[in-house]
Amino acid sequence: MDTPALPRLPFDRIAEVFDDQRALPPDAIAALQRAFAELVDAGLASLVEPGAGTGRIAIPALAAGLRVTALDVSVPMLDTLSARLRRLPEVADRCDVVHGDATALPFDDDRFDTGLLAQVLYLIPAWEQALDELVRVVRPAGRVMLLQERTWMSPELDRWDVAWRDSTEQSGHVPVPQVPDDDVSVAALAERTNQVAERELVSWEFGQKVDDALAGLDRMRPLYEALPDAAWTSVVAGFRRWQATSGLAGDSWLGGTVTLTLVTGVVPACS
Ligand SMILES: C[S@@+](CC[C@H](N)C(=O)[O-])C[C@H]1O[C@@H](n2cnc3c(N)ncnc32)[C@H](O)[C@@H]1O
Repeated sequence: MDTPALPRLPFDRIAEVFDDQRALPPDAIAALQRAFAELVDAGLASLVEPGAGTGRIAIPALAAGLRVTALDVSVPMLDTLSARLRRLPEVADRCDVVHGDATALPFDDDRFDTGLLAQVLYLIPAWEQALDELVRVVRPAGRVMLLQERTWMSPELDRWDVAWRDSTEQSGHVPVPQVPDDDVSVAALAERTNQVAERELVSWEFGQKVDDALAGLDRMRPLYEALPDAAWTSVVAGFRRWQATSGLAGDSWLGGTVTLTLVTGVVPACS
């Protein structure tokens, strides 16, 4: 197989902190498992997840009874998944872990009953090709799904977010373009599949106090690996100065809401 394309973020270094930073709450995992169990009941028993990462979604799918093929370009992300699977012998034999590129899937046409993409399309410059590839490997009448974390940020968190982005970009950080956004992804799915339907699985609130967010800034360092240490130190110092004059006190709440939404399309007979 060709060497996979590099992702737009350094997931090889993010692997060790990903589960900590992006963990789903128990209610979300339970809601996901219920949605995946419905696929099993409908006879859609095999699922491929390109960009599966550490298995945050793949493991609930396995727990619901699906056979899962978890593919990713990042070996450290897959190593973390494999380590988790070793602790889950009751489901591990239903999971294939594959190193590969979402834009050139190493699978025959029509191989799977379902395919799922979660938090990955915006990381892939040729994202439309990744969607085409997923439709190619899912059989006619199978399902292609986008799992989206639709996020609302409070005005305080929004200000914080904008100020942080300004500080990092002024220091030379080039942000990952958020393309495609959720709406564009759904439209692209509708161009390739039939009967596209959206379903809100669960919502939850998140947040932390300003003081805790400041204390945790260094945990984000792997996301900014292109910035030299001196630039990173100056970003953090500058941002702390901004916070001190922002009117956001140490005990101000930076919060929001996430709605986990499953968008499903049915693969046409001639895809
Ligand atoms: C934000 S993580 C999401 C992981 C998982 N889907 C989840 O929701 O927890 C994105 C993953 O996509 C992978 N990735 C990025 N570009 C990829 C590509 N072209 N092919 C396969 N995986 C890719 C990254 O290595 C990373 O593990």
